Amino acid sequence: MTSPESPRKPIMVGNWKMNMNHLEAIAYVQKLAFGVSDKDLDRTEVAVLPPFTDLRSVQTLKEADKLKILFGAQDVSAHKDGPYTGEISASMLAKLKVDMVLVGHSERRAYHHEDDDLINAKIGEILKNSLRPLLAVGETLPIRQAGDAMSHVIAQLSGCLKGVSTKQTDGLIVAYEPVWAIGTGEVASPEDAQQMCLAIREWLSSRFSSTVAEQTRVLYGGSVKASNVKELMNQPDVDGALVGGACLDPAEFLRIIRWPDQL
Ligand code: PGA
Repeated sequence: MTSPESPRKPIMVGNWKMNMNHLEAIAYVQKLAFGVSDKDLDRTEVAVLPPFTDLRSVQTLKEADKLKILFGAQDVSAHKDGPYTGEISASMLAKLKVDMVLVGHSERRAYHHEDDDLINAKIGEILKNSLRPLLAVGETLPIRQAGDAMSHVIAQLSGCLKGVSTKQTDGLIVAYEPVWAIGTGEVASPEDAQQMCLAIREWLSSRFSSTVAEQTRVLYGGSVKASNVKELMNQPDVDGALVGGACLDPAEFLRIIRWPDQL
């Protein structure tokens, strides 16, 4: 994301996972909003993905204080409504005016056995409700070691985005998150991140159009922190980061958001 004429505005997304209750969420967002300047937000979009129980509080705060920070959900049901105990529908999220919905995170894939078909159905619900999907893809270590990382990620993309039209890609964000880098402290090399983000963009070009490829933001995620974000962001096809552990401290997340100021 080095070129000033890039049509893509960088975005930093903090994935809180199962951390922070709604009171802690309010305190966090207030702290973050106090820290980010208009200059920061001119350069980089900022989004948080709190747990479901926090979304209403974050929405209320955002509206009351007219915050420019975006917020979204970490998951959504593949069903419209009905007897699905514990699930949250896309229309409920739309009513909360969330800015995006994460799907396909590797923790959902691993612990809840979500496959590309289910993620595809979730994306269908997201799009039907005029929300923006943030689709996470990425390979495990054995897949990378076998040299199959790229074909695996491309297969995930085509499965998860099956039936999606070019028009519906407006607002789509893709996050490349190698599973072996998530929460492990082991970040992908900037070259590996660039190679995969470029491959994702090339796939978007052939599956949809060159315009979609140019406009869709492709993020890197996996052990991103303030000390490694700049070299990742210096890669031409890395448009932002999906940050887990390091976003839980608002001061560290701010340093990540301010990557252009790092020497
Ligand atoms: P991590 O998580 O930054 O803690 O590695 C990233 C993610 O799971 O989105």
